[in-house]
Amino acid sequence: MIKHLIQKEWDKSADAWLDFVRTGKDHCRYYMNNPGMFKILGNIRGKQVLDLACGEGYNSRIMAKKGAKVTGIDFSKNQIKYAQEEENNNKMGIEYFIQNASRLGRFKNNTFDIVVCFMALQDMNNYKKAVKEVKRVLKTQGRFIFAMPHPCFERNVGRDGISYTVKDYFTAKAYPLYWKMKRLTKHFKTTSFHRSLSDYTNALYDADLLISRIHEPKPTKQGLKVHPNLKENLLIPQSIVIEAIKS
Ligand SMILES: C[S@@+](CC[C@H](N)C(=O)[O-])C[C@H]1O[C@@H](n2cnc3c(N)ncnc32)[C@H](O)[C@@H]1O
Repeated sequence: MIKHLIQKEWDKSADAWLDFVRTGKDHCRYYMNNPGMFKILGNIRGKQVLDLACGEGYNSRIMAKKGAKVTGIDFSKNQIKYAQEEENNNKMGIEYFIQNASRLGRFKNNTFDIVVCFMALQDMNNYKKAVKEVKRVLKTQGRFIFAMPHPCFERNVGRDGISYTVKDYFTAKAYPLYWKMKRLTKHFKTTSFHRSLSDYTNALYDADLLISRIHEPKPTKQGLKVHPNLKENLLIPQSIVIEAIKS
C-alpha cells in the first residue's frame, strides 16, 4: 500500500532529514519558502495552530516561538521521535502525535484557529481526505495555509540525476523523489504526487474552504547573496503558498 511505503520512506530518512533541516542545508526553506509562508501566516500569537505533517518539528518550533500554541502531527514515528526529543530538551509547550493527516479523529471539530502544512500535502496519498479533516478541525473563519512545490513548475531529480520539469501536467501520479544533494549526510528516496493546481483547489472547494490568498515566494535578498543559484527562482517559482478559509 502506497501509504505504508511513504511512511517507511520518511521513517528511514528521518536522520538525514533532521541533519538537512537543522544544520543550515535546507536553503529553499530558510531563504524563500518559510519567509513566504510566514508572511501569509502573519501574527499568530495566542493562536491554536496544528502543524500538519510537521516532520521533525522545525516550523512547529518557529511558530511556538512566535507565541502560538502548537500541536504537530506526522505519520512517521521517527520524525515525531526527533521532534519530541527536541521538545523534551527545550520545552516550548508543543504537543506532538504520530497521526495520519487524513485521520485526525483525536481532535474535536472546531479546535484550531490555523492549520499549517509545510511542503507535505504533495506527499499525501489521500490529500482530499486530509483537506476534509482540516476543514473539520478548523474553527469557523479558521485558516488553512499550505506551501507545496508549485504544481506548474515542479522539478525533480530522477534516479539518473537528470532534473526535469513536469511533462504531463494533467495526469496525477506518484513519482519517486531522489534526494541526492552533495550536502546531505545520506542520499534517500521519498514518494511525492504530481497533481494539477485545480486538483488542489477543487479539494479545497469540495471541503468548503475558500481560497483567500495565493503567494508565490521569491528568494530573499540575503538568500541570493548566500546562494546565488536561487536566482533562477526570481524567474520561475519553486513553490506556492495557498491560504483558504473555513466559512
Ligand atoms: C517534506 S517533509 C516536510 C516536513 C515538515 N512539514 C517540515 O516543515 O519539515 C513531508 C512530511 O510529510 C509527512 N507525511 C506524508 N504523508 C503524511 C500523511 N498522510 N500523514 C501525516 N504525515 C505525512 C512525512 O512523514 C514527512 O515528515
